[in-house]
Formats: sequence, C-alpha cells, structure tokens
Amino acid sequence: MAYDKVYSAWKADPNGFWMQAAEAIDWIEKPTKALFDENAPLYEWFVDAKVNTCWNAVDRHVEAGRGDQIAIMHESPITHSTKGITYKELQARVASLAGALRMRGVEKGDRVIIYMPMIPEALEAMLACARLGAIHSVVFGGFAAHELAVRIDDCQPKAIIAASCGLEPNRVVHYKPLLDAAIDQASHKPEFCVIFQREQEVAKLVEGRDFSWHGFQYGVKPAECVPVEGNQPAYILYTSGTTGQPKGVVRSTAGHLVALHWSMKNIYNIEAGDRFWAASDVGWVVGHSYICYGPLLAGATTIVFEGKPVGTPHPGVFWRIIQNHRVKSFFTAPTALRAIRREDPTGEWIKRYKLHEMQALFLAGERADPDTVKWAQEHLGVPVIDHWWQTETGWAIAGNPLGIELLPVKVGSPTKPMPGYDVQVLDEGGHPLPAGELGSIAIKLPLPPGTLPTLWNAEARFKKSYLEHFPGYYETGDAGYIDEDGYLYIMARTDDVINVAGHRLSTGAMEEVLASHPDVAECAVIGVADALKGQSPLGFLCLNKGSTRSEADVVKECVKLVRDQIGPVAAFKTACVVDRLPKTRSGKILRGTMVKIADGEDFKMPATIDDPAILDEIAVALKKLGYPEK
Ligand code: COA
Ligand code: AMP
Repeated sequence: MAYDKVYSAWKADPNGFWMQAAEAIDWIEKPTKALFDENAPLYEWFVDAKVNTCWNAVDRHVEAGRGDQIAIMHESPITHSTKGITYKELQARVASLAGALRMRGVEKGDRVIIYMPMIPEALEAMLACARLGAIHSVVFGGFAAHELAVRIDDCQPKAIIAASCGLEPNRVVHYKPLLDAAIDQASHKPEFCVIFQREQEVAKLVEGRDFSWHGFQYGVKPAECVPVEGNQPAYILYTSGTTGQPKGVVRSTAGHLVALHWSMKNIYNIEAGDRFWAASDVGWVVGHSYICYGPLLAGATTIVFEGKPVGTPHPGVFWRIIQNHRVKSFFTAPTALRAIRREDPTGEWIKRYKLHEMQALFLAGERADPDTVKWAQEHLGVPVIDHWWQTETGWAIAGNPLGIELLPVKVGSPTKPMPGYDVQVLDEGGHPLPAGELGSIAIKLPLPPGTLPTLWNAEARFKKSYLEHFPGYYETGDAGYIDEDGYLYIMARTDDVINVAGHRLSTGAMEEVLASHPDVAECAVIGVADALKGQSPLGFLCLNKGSTRSEADVVKECVKLVRDQIGPVAAFKTACVVDRLPKTRSGKILRGTMVKIADGEDFKMPATIDDPAILDEIAVALKKLGYPEK
C-alpha cells in the first residue's frame, strides 16, 4: 500500500526522506543535511541552510506567474463582506508593512506580538515579520489583558501589532483598551504599537507610542526578504501547560517550511491553485499552520473566516462558503460540527449548497466523537478525516494521508502515524505496551522537522515537561492505545489540560486565579463532559474559615475573576462551594475521581484516599449543579 511504502521509506532513511521533501522549498543556501543531533536529546533540522519564509509563501508564487491568483479570501458574515487579495497584492502589502517595521528598528530576531482578529491584516502582519526574520507571537483575541501581559513579559517584543477591535456575534471586543491594560501591567514595554483601525471601532492612540496601520506605512521603502538560518525561530506560540505560566512553543524556520509544504500535498491533497479552508483562528496553531503558512506555501488560496459555525447568520454558513469559494479540503473542529448539528440535525442546510468540489473534511483540535463523525459522513458524503496533533508538533502526528492514499476510516481513530513520527504507547515504566492496551502516548526522538526544538527561554522546562518522564521519547500528554491494525486512538490527557470547544486550557491556570480571591482558601477545577464543547470547566471552592460572605457572591466574583484574568475563552461559568476537597493521604487532589462522579462514570475508590466520605459531599454538590447530566 502507498502509505506503508512512504512510511517505511521514511523509517529506512529519515535523512534522505526529509532532504527529498526539502527540494520543494526555495533555498537561498541549500541545507547539506537534514538532522542535526549534536545536542541530543535536543534536535534541530536544516540548520546550515539559509531561507526566507515570506519568499516561499508569497514572492515565489508571484515569480512563478501566480500573481493574479487570490491568495487570501476574507469572508466575514459578521461585517457582511467578502474580499479577495491576490498574491501580487499580498506581496506589495507585506513588503510595505515590513518596510515600515524596519524603519522603526525591527530586525531579524526581534520579537513582535500580534493581537488581531480574523482579518487579512493578521496574516499580513505575520508575513511581514517573516519577511524581516523577526519572530512573531500571535495572541488569541479571546484572552484578557493579563494573559497578554504575561506573554509580553516572556517574549519581550520590540513592537506590538493590534487591531482596534474584534467582532463577536453579540459584542465588539475592545482590543485597544485590553492592549493598553496589558502594556500597563507588563514590566517589559514595547517600543511602539501599530494599530489597524477597523471602521466598527476607531481606537484612541497613545501619542508617540502608537501608529495607525496606514499612516505608519506612508512613503516607506518596501522591504525585501531577509535570509535567515534554518534554525532561526520563525515564531513563538504560547500554549497551556499545567501552570498559569504558558509554554512558549518555538517553531524553527526551515523545518517549518519543509514539513508544512509536505503536509499540504500528502495529507490534505492540496496543490498550487487549489482552495483550502481551515475554520480556526490565527491565534491557535491550526491558524498558524493551515490558515496562514501551509496553504500559502503550497500556492493555494486560503480562506480567512470571521464568524461562527452557527448564528452568523445561520448553520449553513460553512457550506455556503465552501460552495462559493469551491473549497477542496476543509478543516474544522468537531465542536463546530456539533454546534451545526444541534441546529440542523437532518442536514437541511447542507442540501441547499453544491459541495461537489469538496473532497474531504478534516477534523482536529479535540477528540472526534463517533456520533459527530457519522453525522458528517452521512450528510456530506465525503471522507471525514480525523487527525491528531498539538501546538508543539505544528502538524499532524497521526492522520489519514489523502494525498498519498485514503486508508480505510475507522471512526474514533485519527488513523496512523505520519512519516517522521514513531508513535508508541508506554506503561508507567516507559515500556511499550501491546496492541489494545491503554497507556501514555509518546514519540520516539527525534521529532520530525516542523516540531518544537525547545520552549522560548525555557530549555529546562522543555526537558522537564516533555523529555524526562520517558527518556528517549517525547511525552505527548495524551493517553490512548494502538489497535492490532496499527490505528491510533486518543482517549484523554494525562495532565491537567482540558479541551473546551477545541480550545486548549489549563485547569491549573484557572485554579491560580481562583486561589487569588480573598475568600478562597483552597480550590480545584476539573473538566466535565459537555455535549457541545467536549469539556467545560467546573470549579470547587473551599472558603476561608470565618468567611461571612454569601456563597453565591463568592462564586459570582470568581467567575468574573477568571473572565477578567484569563479571558472569555476560558468559558468558566460554573463553580460551587464545598467544605473539603477529596485528597490522597499525601495531599494530592483527586481531580480524576471528581470528573468521574460529575460525568456519572463508574470509578474505583482510590487506594490512597484520605477520607472517602468527602466524595459523597462532592457528589451532593455536583447534583445540585445538575451533574451528572441526564
Ligand atoms: N475574541 C474574543 N472573544 C472570543 C473569541 C475571540 N476571538 N473567541 C471566542 N470568544 C469568546 C466568545 O464570545 C464567548 O464569550 P461569551 O462568554 O461572552 O459568550 C467565549 O469566548 C467562549 O467562546 P466559545 O467557547 O468559542 O463559545 P461560543 O459559545 O462563543 O461558541 C462554538 C461555541 C462551538 C460555536 C465555538 O466554540 C466554535 O466555533 N468552535 C470551533 C473551535 C475552533 O475552531 N477551535 C480552533 C481549534 S482547531
Ligand atoms: P492544541 O495544542 O491546542 O492543538 O491541543 C492539542 C491537544 O488537543 C492534544 O494534545 C489532544 O489532547 C487534543 N487533540 C487534538 N487533536 C485531537 C484529535 N484528533 N483527537 C483527540 N484529541 C485531539
């Protein structure tokens, strides 16, 4: 079979495999080899090459005669607008923005934070950084000022590029006040900010610090593409770990280019001239890899969508866009399909549109539950392909490589490992488990090109978080099993990370916020099953002895605190007050057992539990909140 052949070819000669994939990239200086393993267990790829990302994503397509093809199609049902930008226009816009950034001193290696909604200018800002060899860090618009401040202090940007506002269906998100508050809170101060003023809200600029997007570029000399080394960081993307301090995932330039280019044809079956749509947000890894860089590297048209699967204005909006822009491969999160299915269970909206150019639907970001997959298969009539990956890897660890061959789909499985990934299921002692047995999923080192080489300014944390538990492996943080046919099943996280509407969130970060409330002595946050969002966070609060506050008031304040500190995206809406939390004798909170009670699942009484009676108290508190749900 074709997949087996490709996977075996990689296994037999990884260097040769990736050097061949590298031929698809326009190098300024070609790499002499693929893997650099001198600092194992830290690995790097194509280190001795010189290359520029923006050249490969934009300029080379103009040179190749694709200048008049649409590069970015912006669809905003919220503002009722549709607008296409050609590769030639994109090149001019990006070169101009890069020129203006350079005039203000942004150079190769400088960090630039981007805090923008789903508008083409967000991609232009990313590409302008790439053009200069500056390192961008995009922050998702659903995060509050505090989260932005944490990222400003960690990556110390020279500049911040933001928009005046974002648009959610029910409200305007005032980006500028959030940005100002974040800069106030942060110890590091950027030298300047560039603000894209949207007509829906014109923000007040701080004199001397803030420049408007257009004025800033007036009369500047466009910048050319700056060559960078293969291991130069292209970007930093922060993601949730177990604590309130997010992890700054670093993406190196050359490996990123090679892996994404390979994935576009081999996984998504997309080539130059095709139309590709990932309905995610530039603030997430899916947005980096498959709204911005992947489709542009391939010379395809990418769709930038500012809207929601339902309510903007109806549950047929995805299908309308797929029809109108003749989308060939479409990528979204299962939660989006669940939202659509809830409003259109019999697929009436799907029938209204001609979707014959869509060859497949790709799902990722969370477990694709079999019910949702089957519903999509039935109503769309195309392969529904689950694939599994993480911010850390930047592209699929396991999938069904449509461009190589479509393997038989097993609902509930993201299919098989992609070349570059030797995926194994390990027991607690780090020994590989036989087929069918549940364990920790780990990847034998080295990870392939495009994956993280380290965490930004936190090499020790990188080693501790990913490499130390299972020496010789990268620990994914996911648990699951491999069946007898080699199909992978991802079942749960092994840490305190939860997945809410395809968004990765840290319960530890929420606990840190709750613990800062003056009346809260102790707390725990768990992720409970949610029919729409997959999981939703639920808080347990133990109040200080002698606290005279009403429980309802404290809960209300705690909900507000999480929204103000982390942001609306945390979707933290429910908490209850309890006397005590269930713990082991050594004091570890039994969150896993609490989840099982909330979800109405059977559980074994933990042997190390300190006081089993507390579980009954938790069950009573949960019942009052309506858990387990009927
Ligand atoms: N900027 C500001 N706020 C944002 C935001 C953004 N970019 N994205 C989400 N939010 C806000 C929402 O408005 C909501 O606020 P509210 O509490 O005032 O209603 C809150 O964050 C929670 O958002 P979400 O969890 O997305 O819930 P929702 O009810 O707004 O929408 C879905 C539910 C299922 C329609 C939506 O989550 C969705 O489209 N999910 C797809 C997920 C996805 O693409 N994930 C990317 C990974 S592949
Ligand atoms: P993120 O880094 O935000 O992309 O989140 C990565 C995590 O989301 C993974 O570690 C998994 O826990 C989960 N995840 C992503 N894709 C899938 C999938 N296809 N199946 C199951 N879980 C997934």
